[in-house]
Amino acid sequence: MIPRRLFPILYGFGAACAFAIPLAEQQVLGDINNSGTEAQSSRHLSGRFLHITDFHLDSHYKSGASVDRGCHRGKGPAGSLGAEGSACDSPLALVDETFRWMEKNLKGEIDFVLWTGDSARHDNDEKIPRTASEIIDLNKVLATKFIDLFQDQGATRGVSIPIIPTIGNNDIMPHNIFKEGPNRWTRKFTQVWAKFIPEHQWHTFEEGGWFSAEVIPNKLAAISLNTMYFYESNSAVDGCAAKSEPGFEHMEWLQIQLEILRERKMKAILIGHVPPARAGSKQNWDETCWQKYTLFLNRFRDVVVGSVYGHMNIDHFMLQDSHDVDILAVGEKPPNNPDLLVQSRTSYLTGLREDWAELPSPPGDMSTYSFPNGWASASDEAVDSLGRVLGKKERKFLKKIGGPWAERYSVSLVSPSVVPNYFPTLRIVEYNISGLEGVTTWADTPYSHDSYDAIDWGSDSDEVGQQKKKKKKKGKKKKGKGKKKPHFKAPDDPSPTAPPGPAYSNQALTWLSYAQYFANLTDIYDSTAESSESTLGSEETESRSLDLYQLEYDTRDDKIYEMEDLTVRSYFKLAKRISKNNPGKDDMVTTNGDETSETKEKKQKNRVWRTFLDRAFVGFLTDDELDDIKE
Ligand SMILES: *[C@@H]1O[C@H](CO)[C@@H](O)[C@H](O)[C@H]1NC(C)=O
Ligand SMILES: *[C@@H]1O[C@H](CO)[C@@H](O)[C@H](O)[C@H]1NC(C)=O
Ligand SMILES: *[C@@H]1O[C@H](CO)[C@@H](O)[C@H](O)[C@H]1NC(C)=O
Repeated sequence: MIPRRLFPILYGFGAACAFAIPLAEQQVLGDINNSGTEAQSSRHLSGRFLHITDFHLDSHYKSGASVDRGCHRGKGPAGSLGAEGSACDSPLALVDETFRWMEKNLKGEIDFVLWTGDSARHDNDEKIPRTASEIIDLNKVLATKFIDLFQDQGATRGVSIPIIPTIGNNDIMPHNIFKEGPNRWTRKFTQVWAKFIPEHQWHTFEEGGWFSAEVIPNKLAAISLNTMYFYESNSAVDGCAAKSEPGFEHMEWLQIQLEILRERKMKAILIGHVPPARAGSKQNWDETCWQKYTLFLNRFRDVVVGSVYGHMNIDHFMLQDSHDVDILAVGEKPPNNPDLLVQSRTSYLTGLREDWAELPSPPGDMSTYSFPNGWASASDEAVDSLGRVLGKKERKFLKKIGGPWAERYSVSLVSPSVVPNYFPTLRIVEYNISGLEGVTTWADTPYSHDSYDAIDWGSDSDEVGQQKKKKKKKGKKKKGKGKKKPHFKAPDDPSPTAPPGPAYSNQALTWLSYAQYFANLTDIYDSTAESSESTLGSEETESRSLDLYQLEYDTRDDKIYEMEDLTVRSYFKLAKRISKNNPGKDDMVTTNGDETSETKEKKQKNRVWRTFLDRAFVGFLTDDELDDIKE
């Protein structure tokens, strides 16, 4: 049985068009003047960044309103900082308190912000339909808050750290529908995010709603993907296989960015709003886009450090398996049954778990297995780099997963939301800055106006034009016959001598751990009720000294996840442990049996899976509710 409270909150699946973007600005920020690193700036990297997502700010929110009416009217339990565990959006008070908390706890402590969209409220109240200007205004409110929080007159761009936004499916109207650019949304967001998008990429962004920024100049770029072009529910576009589609252009641009970064010996973080979820019958992205993404993450495994998304409001991760890539086979969209798409979150998580159960197994138990640190040589040797002898079974296992670094797979992380579908939450990721102690930070990098220097795409864009014309003709001649093989040149693998990338082996820029923070609104409301009882109605004493967020868990010292770092093989190991039905003793826990069954016996359960579920819902569910989730 799925707890009733989970039902109201299903994914938004909405609605409908096509495109071509001149491949103009392919240049990543260049021409950095390092020579005059003036008068010893005190700025240095702290080795942390913030991932925050899905604010869903709602200026119509009313404290004391009914949660069944979107917290807009009626009488009900909606609290002043939001209605935890409901489908209501966020009041301004929650957003204000979140920024106050960040000012106190994060300012000066993080190197950049990844902000993965959906800043505007949902369009879920027929009595107050959203308008385009409201959506933009809500986004402006948040952009201004970030600028105010990190403003710094001493920095070249007036803010101390780079803030990387991306467009969410509720930041546009109608929601989910995003046509090829340039369109009014890409134009508007270029203005709203003018401080966040590097100036020489304003034009690129206006064309497609995507951009790239060097969050650590010459070392690390953050690439903001416009996942609206990959999103299955955007009926205005159609995947990433046809040259005429914005998704195709987007993937082409991405490929070029990653090639340039590889050449410059830089690394990349990818961010987007809608994650590439693909489990059970759930699929967020058009399959053709998922295929290219998975292929790119595999081929650029020396470049991509990691990727983060929002949208789903549940804390989890997904593995992409490069063995699932078969670009040429994807000629048609898979049959799409809308009833199947609307699944509860628990059955999606159960679907992930079932997929993970199929991952290759090491000899013995995964919870006690430790990966070797590399091979002795490229050939299949029986000894690892530390001289440990690898048995035949172990070698077989390692071969299956793409070697000792599990390079067959890639990982995408999803942080839950600020909007309290459960509890409000945000994530701070720690990464390895060894060897980067003295680098010039973004804030100290001269703002280079003349660095824009478009690569000559002349012949290629001609080809795009011609292909389009041809396609039209062809389409008329032999409609519905003979699928055209997509014209696509896959990127190269890393050079055979390249060491494993930071997503695979711990080195500079590798993600080491993350701390998930949450605001227990229930507790805050309980204690303010108590204190206002005792101090007789002094409502104003509330919240001034409120420490809104507290640590939910930190992977660094977590006794259950036991993650050495956030590399792909650490996630592989975790996924494998979550999936086990009969885990080793260490991964077991005893819980209450199903209340509805006649025998109320205690049941042995996998505590890693249980913890994963508990965290997916930000600790909001009770033990009984967790017990009730069907395995
Ligand atoms: C770099 O900056 C220094 C100091 O601001 C300046 O003197 C120099 O001309 C600049 N070099 C270039 C190539 O712009
Ligand atoms: C960071 O990477 C270096 C290798 O470049 C490694 O020696 C070091 O242990 C890593 N730091 C942490 C904190 O894991
Ligand atoms: C939140 O606070 C309530 C009330 O104090 C408490 O019962 C609950 O366990 C807390 N939840 C978490 C995840 O800490």
